[in-house]
Amino acid sequence: MIDKIAQIKDEALQSIAAATDENSLNEARVAVMGKKGTVTLLGTIMKDVPSSEKAAIGQLLNATRSAVQNALDEKQIALQSQADLAALAGIDPTLPPRALATGGLHPLTLLRERAVGILRRMGFSLAEGPEIEDEFHCFDALNTPSDHPARNPKDTFYFDSGKLLRTHTSSVQVRTMEKQMPPLRIIAPGTAYRRDEIDSTHLSAFHQLEGLYVDKDVSLPDLKGTLEMFLRELFGAQTAVRFRPHFFPFTEPSFEIDVLLEIKGQAPRWIEVAGCGMVDPAVFEAVCQSRGDRFFDSSRVTGFAFGMGLERLAMIQWGIRDIRLLIENDIRFLKQFA
Ligand code: PHE
Repeated sequence: MIDKIAQIKDEALQSIAAATDENSLNEARVAVMGKKGTVTLLGTIMKDVPSSEKAAIGQLLNATRSAVQNALDEKQIALQSQADLAALAGIDPTLPPRALATGGLHPLTLLRERAVGILRRMGFSLAEGPEIEDEFHCFDALNTPSDHPARNPKDTFYFDSGKLLRTHTSSVQVRTMEKQMPPLRIIAPGTAYRRDEIDSTHLSAFHQLEGLYVDKDVSLPDLKGTLEMFLRELFGAQTAVRFRPHFFPFTEPSFEIDVLLEIKGQAPRWIEVAGCGMVDPAVFEAVCQSRGDRFFDSSRVTGFAFGMGLERLAMIQWGIRDIRLLIENDIRFLKQFA
């Protein structure tokens, strides 16, 4: 009996050792451990074993089964790694890999995301409007008379239809007030277009971030505090910011905001980053007319608005001396922000 078990075990181990690939290993597995496999069938001899030997034979059978199972498992692993090595034949896995060119976000995108993040934490939510605008939303509703220079085709891109590429994101102020009820606090990042001569601080397509806050009793200190806090949050607590009285048709009073641009090796210079002011009652009146109700009547609400140039903010953030670097897509420049 013991000899028979030893013989079947030897044969089983031999057939496993002889397997050369997964198929032949499977055949061997079925032949020894399958339902009618030689090792499986050994179990049936137990009934003929005298009871005095049952324990010893039983143990031997168990040891045989696990030895055969181990041999199967080991062979499986060995065959698998053989197949893996064959797949790698001719390839040197010790060569250093080729560096992957990873992309990065454009500095303007980085800047916009940070700016939007700060303003959202201050309670502003996002709004948007079309880049192809009509004169009502871009000019008339913003109290801009038809002889204003910004409406001149020399300064603005007009389509034959009379529509135009928006010259500022302020049109989103009007569109938002037409749709929403006060109080409202929105920001609108987007592209604006002007027929400007391109130089180190001007582009003809650029990016703005508009903001509008309308509620009861919004005041000039609210405007100043909000924008100073925003700029210091963006550029650091030491940032020098100045408000210069200015004129915009849609705000009264109006200001331009400058931030001190400091670049190593250059004299510090003030650079204009934003326009702002208290919403002119004429704008609220145009909105009331367009809505056909009085929710934005200037006896009920006041508000402030601002529009910032994102390119200018990026120039200050990173000390970029020429705005054109932002559109040339020179990889040596962009790489510095990745
Ligand atoms: N629209 C102005 C510009 O493009 C900026 C501005 C926005 C000024 C809102 C006042 C209020 O220069």
